[in-house]
Parts: sequence; C-alpha cells; structure tokens
Amino acid sequence: MSAATLDLADCSRCDSCDLALTRQQVVVSRGNPQARLMLIGEAPGAREDATGQPFVGRSGQALNRLLLEVGLSPERDLYICNAVKCRPPGNRRPRKSELSACRPWLDRQLELIKPRVIVLTGATAVEAILGIKGGMTQLRGQWQSWNGRAVMPIFHPSYLLRNPSKAAGAPLDLTRQDLAAVQQRLCEPWSAFN
Ligand code: URA
Repeated sequence: MSAATLDLADCSRCDSCDLALTRQQVVVSRGNPQARLMLIGEAPGAREDATGQPFVGRSGQALNRLLLEVGLSPERDLYICNAVKCRPPGNRRPRKSELSACRPWLDRQLELIKPRVIVLTGATAVEAILGIKGGMTQLRGQWQSWNGRAVMPIFHPSYLLRNPSKAAGAPLDLTRQDLAAVQQRLCEPWSAFN
C-alpha cells in the first residue's frame, strides 16, 4: 500500500492489525495540520482511546505544560500524532508488526503536513523514524535529520511523570531545554534547514 494514495479519513476504519479488535477509537491527530512542527509519540493510552485524541491523558497534560512554558501552543503550533494509531491492550509497547501495519498512515501524515521540524517523544518514535534503538539519555537533545527535516528526540512525557524532579539537569529540565531549542529552530529562516 503506497502512502500517497491513502485518504486519512479512512484511517478510522483501518483493520490492518489486531489492535483494531480491542480499540475503542482510532487516534489520528490533534493540533494544526498547517503547523511546521510535528510531534510523534508512541501509541494512544486509555484516555486517548476513549476520546480519539492523542496526548490528552496525564502524559499529554505534562507535554502541554512544557510546550506552553517554551512558548509553543499545542493547538496552534503543532500537529500531534503517534507512530501507532490504536491503543495496545494494557498500554504495552506496540509490536514491530503493529508499527509496520500502521506505518503507511504515519507516512501519509508526514507527506501531508510536510513539517520543518519533527519532535520524537520516546524510544518507540525514535526507532520508528530514525531506526535507532534505545539510548534516549544520549540521543535526547541531539539534532538529527530525516528526509531533509530537522528531528529532535526528547524523553517521553510518561518518563517525565515517573521522574518529576524539578532540579537543574533532571529529565524535566532537559526536556524543557530541548523544546526551547525546537522553538528557536522554528524561528530560523527556511534556508537554515537545507
Ligand atoms: N503516549 C503516547 O505516546 N501517545 C499518546 O497519545 C498518549 C500517551
């Protein structure tokens, strides 16, 4: 299946993998389809499954707070989605087969949004896009490139909820710095991206 022929409206009826049997809703995106910044997470959790919106549970609230702190509006400045669009039972990590089955939808989103900058939250999103396994402590905050787009890996907000220290140099502080670097990058002229 080529991503270019997909209509995102059909995503809500997708049954390409077994997650279709246990999901309540397909969670496609929230935010602004015209945004220059796209954020990709792992997969929906319980609240996302119930509402059909990505990052609206506790992780999403933590993420929203950080975005707002660096001057990014989640609804205006970002298009937010996940590598996998349906909730894995019990919030387990998505399987490779599920990531592959869902990949055409993510590719279609990337094609339509054409983001200048991509933020990858957590190891699953990093592996899906960059093909790099693990090592978020080393990877976060380091600019990467994917198909001519600037890519910033950051800690997943659920990791920040488990590590709530507000100390300088703690994961929360580092993530704020990473998002501030993203905000800065978006202010640079387009030529700086090529
Ligand atoms: N975690 C994710 O990776 N995505 C969501 O939408 C919610 C929690």
